[in-house]
Amino acid sequence: MTLSWTCKRFDDLGVHALHDALALRCRVFILEQGPYQDPDEADKMSWHVLGHDEKDQLVACLRIVDPGARFAEPSIGRVVTAPEMRGQGLGRALMVEGLARCAKAWPGRAVRVSAQAHLQDFYGGLGFVPVGAPYLEDAIAHIEMLRPAEPALAKETP
Ligand SMILES: CC(C)(COP(=O)(O)OP(=O)(O)OC[C@H]1O[C@@H](n2cnc3c(N)ncnc32)[C@H](O)[C@@H]1OP(=O)(O)O)[C@@H](O)C(=O)NCCC(=O)NCCS
Repeated sequence: MTLSWTCKRFDDLGVHALHDALALRCRVFILEQGPYQDPDEADKMSWHVLGHDEKDQLVACLRIVDPGARFAEPSIGRVVTAPEMRGQGLGRALMVEGLARCAKAWPGRAVRVSAQAHLQDFYGGLGFVPVGAPYLEDAIAHIEMLRPAEPALAKETP
């Protein structure tokens, strides 16, 4: 399945898109995995990538928090696909879209994720490498992962 992607700043989401994103995140991070305080101040300092299916239903989303807001690097978080849609490649497609948006906004910069530890292979397959030791956040094992900065091509050219 191919999703149609949009990427908006928090202030530009509109109330319907904001509702749909928070409803999907609530379903997963609060009801499936929580209790967890899902919406937070970082939402206001983020780009929000939204993936809609052919019926215009939101089935995938993530946020890209500005560099300097939580981490020195831009960071991707709240990565989620609708439970009934998993295992079809949409999570990977969502991350590819998020990374493309990072590359456009901050060319060549490293990107960080605070990954749930059991998803190391998922993020590893997208170029992220673990940095630091696993830790517990809201009783779920996490690990910091970094996708290294792309070397500047101009500098590599002899
Ligand atoms: C993580 C998540 C976004 C993946 O979405 P998805 O649509 O199932 O992902 P894909 O179908 O693109 O799978 C990509 C790869 O990751 C693997 N993967 C996906 N979810 C996984 C999981 N929970 N545990 C281990 N591996 C997983 C898949 O097996 C697949 O591997 P493959 O390419 O070798 O077949 C989805 O499971 C989700 O929303 N989880 C709940 C929210 C969450 O925990 N988010 C991450 C916070 S750090």
